[in-house]
Amino acid sequence: MTDLRELYQETILDHYRQPRNTGRLDDANRTAEGYNPLCGDKVTLYLKVEEGVIRDARFEGSGCAIATASASLMTESIKGKREDEALRLLEKIHGMVTGGGQTGDVGKLAVLAGVHEFPQRVKCATLAWHTMKAALENVGEPVTTE
Ligand code: FES
Repeated sequence: MTDLRELYQETILDHYRQPRNTGRLDDANRTAEGYNPLCGDKVTLYLKVEEGVIRDARFEGSGCAIATASASLMTESIKGKREDEALRLLEKIHGMVTGGGQTGDVGKLAVLAGVHEFPQRVKCATLAWHTMKAALENVGEPVTTE
């Protein structure tokens, strides 16, 4: 288990130090802002959705290691997914980090499971995911984790 935990930490640190899919997406047709009022961290998500499929995803903003890694992993994992699949993934991730840390079939995103041991970090891990839901639902106002 220790090895696994180390691997998880390594992946999270890797995505924190070198986040994937950062920056503005000029041809995005869905965007949303997410905000964690507990720390003031913000993320802006840009999605390009065509015929119900997320063709591209990028994010920008400032956040802690978990929030940044989670946003990076999320953008990687939702590209090419249908909107309903991405929303189902959100439910799984939410259940994983708020529940018992069961990873189920979330693939690489299982690295976020360790967060369930740190309830105060759950909002960090889910910030980008709530923002993704807001973008897909075209919520015009910033979403918060509160
Ligand atoms: Fe702000 Fe994690 S401490 S999102």
